[in-house]
Amino acid sequence: MKISSFDDTFLLSDGNKIPCIGFGTFGLDNNKKGESLIKNAISCGYRHFDTASLYGSEEILGKALKASGVARDEFFLTTKVWKDDMAPGDIRKSFDRSLHALGTDYLDLLLIHWPRANEADEEWEEHLFLAWNTFIFLKQEGKVKSIGVSNFLPQHFDVIHSCSEKPVVNQIEFHPGYMQTGTVDYCQRHNIQVEAWSPLGRGSLLNHPVVVDVAAKHKVSPAKVLLSFCLAHNVLPLVKSSSKERLKENLSLFDFKLTEQDLYVLRGIAEKTGWSGQHPDLSIPKAKVGDF
Ligand SMILES: NC(=O)c1ccc[n+]([C@@H]2O[C@H](COP(=O)([O-])OP(=O)(O)OC[C@H]3O[C@@H](n4cnc5c(N)ncnc54)[C@H](OP(=O)(O)O)[C@@H]3O)[C@@H](O)[C@H]2O)c1
Repeated sequence: MKISSFDDTFLLSDGNKIPCIGFGTFGLDNNKKGESLIKNAISCGYRHFDTASLYGSEEILGKALKASGVARDEFFLTTKVWKDDMAPGDIRKSFDRSLHALGTDYLDLLLIHWPRANEADEEWEEHLFLAWNTFIFLKQEGKVKSIGVSNFLPQHFDVIHSCSEKPVVNQIEFHPGYMQTGTVDYCQRHNIQVEAWSPLGRGSLLNHPVVVDVAAKHKVSPAKVLLSFCLAHNVLPLVKSSSKERLKENLSLFDFKLTEQDLYVLRGIAEKTGWSGQHPDLSIPKAKVGDF
């Protein structure tokens, strides 16, 4: 699908549409300041918001959405169930808490945040299978329009292959320094929309000389180069900024186009530059809901 403006959408395999750029809410202060950042994002035009039970940002997001006066169906809201809540009953409780905090009676997209609880969990396949089936039930009950996953590698998809519905989204770390080509190819072959978390490498790629050179050539900011890089690979960027100017700048990425040569040099950035250090199976975050 051709994406040429910030209010364009990607078509998901279940027929629903998802706005092509999302605002990420990880790390926002869970107070008036965080709420006012989200209000800024809404006033700049963002309608797609990414949160998680882990982030502690659902409540401020809910308040900002309500205060905006914009109709609920104009927003696309994603939240995630954290890896420690993967038992079927815990998924339902987590989901209900998220709906309550967000002040809504349905979600646009619900994701399994992480495929396994910890490195030592030898029964992760069984747990994942049960968790995914619970997600399918939530969708059948009409409480969530689309269901998907995050931080999945091909071997995680294999576990749920026989289930009646497949994930429509996989949200993974993606930027020129960590492209996860095998996983992206797998998803795109199976019609699973890839979303990029930390598309700017949490800001660390903004000063990379290759990114800076490409940005200078087009007279745009390094951030726009990195966001454009995602879209050029049909990957949907989730970006966060605490400044209204940068929020606007990030939405204006359609005023230039990366060439094949630009993409080639950006893909040449050394593997693991700006990598978070997280891995779905080998380096699993220890964070608990309530930590942030
Ligand atoms: N599923 C998962 O496991 C997972 C993991 C991590 C993140 N995520 C999601 O992905 C979202 C984005 O990831 P992220 O927050 O880690 O990182 P990011 O969007 O790659 O980077 C955010 C950083 O870039 C800076 N920035 C943003 N726009 C800029 C611009 N135009 N110019 C200069 N600097 C700019 C921000 O600083 P300022 O605030 O100062 O502008 C901030 O420090 C999260 O909020 C979350 O929703 C998901």
